[in-house]
This record gives sequence, structure tokens and C-alpha cells, in this order.
Amino acid sequence: TDLDQFITGLPKAELHLHIEGSLEPELMFALAARNGIEIPYASVEDVRAAYAFSNLQDFLDIYYAGASVLITQADFHDLAMAYFDRAAADGVRHAEIMFDPQTHTDRGIAFATVIEGLLSAMAEAEAKHGLTSALILSFLRHLSEEAAFEVLAMAEPYLDRIAAVGLDSSEVGHPPAKFARVFAAAAAKGLKRVAHAGEEGPPEYVVEALDLLHVDRIDHGNRAMEDAGLVRRLAGAGMTLTVCPLSNLKLCVVGDLADHPLDRMLAEGLRATVNSDDPAYFGGYVADNYRAIAKARGLSRDDLATLARNSFTGSFLPAAAIDRHL
Ligand code: HPA
Ligand code: ZN
Repeated sequence: TDLDQFITGLPKAELHLHIEGSLEPELMFALAARNGIEIPYASVEDVRAAYAFSNLQDFLDIYYAGASVLITQADFHDLAMAYFDRAAADGVRHAEIMFDPQTHTDRGIAFATVIEGLLSAMAEAEAKHGLTSALILSFLRHLSEEAAFEVLAMAEPYLDRIAAVGLDSSEVGHPPAKFARVFAAAAAKGLKRVAHAGEEGPPEYVVEALDLLHVDRIDHGNRAMEDAGLVRRLAGAGMTLTVCPLSNLKLCVVGDLADHPLDRMLAEGLRATVNSDDPAYFGGYVADNYRAIAKARGLSRDDLATLARNSFTGSFLPAAAIDRHL
């Protein structure tokens, strides 16, 4: 349709994407076969049937298990290339992708294997599609502060190829404060900072991400809407929120997309963006997310253009590159 073409044609950046969450069931089976790994599913349909989640933890258990088929540098390359091909087809011109080193190093995969595979796909995506990208090294918040420091140490030889650190996994009970020191160490090394906050956790976690982690973006941020003072603060600071509509639906952060707060965020002056989070698990890539939320909330083309513009202004691209995309 017309709207589909408008959405695909809008130049977009994707700012909230977990590369492990782009592992489609077909590739999971192919990599399991290639690496001789057993997975607890009989078929691709069987895998998709398992993707019925009632909260974040339900999803995380399946997401970490799925990543067990990723072994070699070629696996990480193929994973990322499949994402970049889909993103390019959706009109994504720039992607800032999160990866979770601990999901791999904790099962004996070398950090270098993971990052070299991702970096080679990033170079190929730029050559093939003109799609630029950046890496966000994400700490698993259900693990310790000490373990996060170990990740930062492993990343040391690659710091010139990493844009930012991030914070993901089980939110409630693992507040941003737990990672204040490792985020300060990352900042001292010149890295930008993002953190998931206010997905399931309370508005106070968003405040902690601002005050204790000094983040450049908030990932999700939905529950900030419960605190009017916090909304004014985020709007006044020009803070970018990386919102993920289909993720919010699948993880029951919202009961129905018709109740999603995205357009209220825009109306309150928040710099919201639309992203896919874990597209293989949540039923859609970035254009699917724009389409679904446009339909559910009756967004105008102006709203959609604002969201796409926000995705570039909220990116870690240099100012001159942002201007070229606007
Ligand atoms: N929230 C927290 N951790 C995650 C997510 C998410 O949406 N996706 C992958 N890891
Ligand atoms: Zn996420």
C-alpha cells in the first residue's frame, strides 16, 4: 500500500536492536546443523510456537538458549548479515546494534570470535547496501558488576570500534545503580552510554540511568510516562527514547498496541524513536514496527517522519553525517 511504501521509503536509523535477537528460526536450525548442536525444537514451526511470552524473563530464557547455536566467527557474521539485509530492505540507512558478549564468553566462545564476525558483516553491509553501523557493548544486568568490568577489559583492544556501552537483560531487581562504576569507567574510555530503563522497571530506574549512568539515550523508557516531572526533565534534556512497539506488545509491557504511549510521548515533547529490539522473536523488523504503531494509534505521515528524523538526531553519528541524512 501507499503507507507501506511511505514507511519503507523514509530514511531511518535503528537504535535499539539486539543482534542475538535477530536470529531467525531458519538460521537457528541451519547453524545447529552446521555446528552439530542439539536444540530442543523439532521444526521451525515448533520454534515459532514457543515464542509466546508473558513477560521479559520468559523471553530472555528462550533468547539466551537460542544463542547457543552461535559458535564460529562465520556464525556471527551470517547472523549480522541477515539482519543488515533485512534492515536495508526496510529503508534503514544506519544501525547501532547491541551485542551481549557474556552470552557467548560464558559458554567458552572467545570475545574476538564474536566481535570479528560482527565487524566483518558491518563492513560488508556498508559496501553492499551503503548501510553504516556502530556497535554497543551490552552488559547483562542480572550478572555482577565484576563480570561487567571483565567484559570492558576484554573489549579493550577493540575500543576504537565500539561506540557505546549498554545495559540489558532482567531489569527488576537490577537497578542502574549496580553499574554506576563500570559506566563511569566506560565514559572515561570515551564510550557513549545507553541503558534499558522503564521497560518493566519503575520510573526511578530511568532517573538512576540519568543521574548515575549519565546515559546518552534511554532504551524503552515506557514507565517514565508515570512521572510527569520526569517526562518534563527528559523532554527538556532532549533525551532520545528508543521505543519498541512490537516488543512492548509481545512482552506484555502494553496489553494492546491501541494503548501504546508512543504518540503521547511525542506530544509531551519526548524524542521518541521506533525500533525492533529482537525482531526474530517479536514478529517484525523496523518497518513492521512503524506500520503496526501507525495503524494502532492512527499516526500521521508527519508523525512518522518525526520518528524517523529523531532516529538520526538520537544516533551516535557525527553531526555532519546526521545532517546528510535529514
Ligand atoms: N529488555 C531487556 N533485555 C533484553 C531485551 C529487552 O527488551 N532484549 C534483549 N535483551
Ligand atoms: Zn532491548
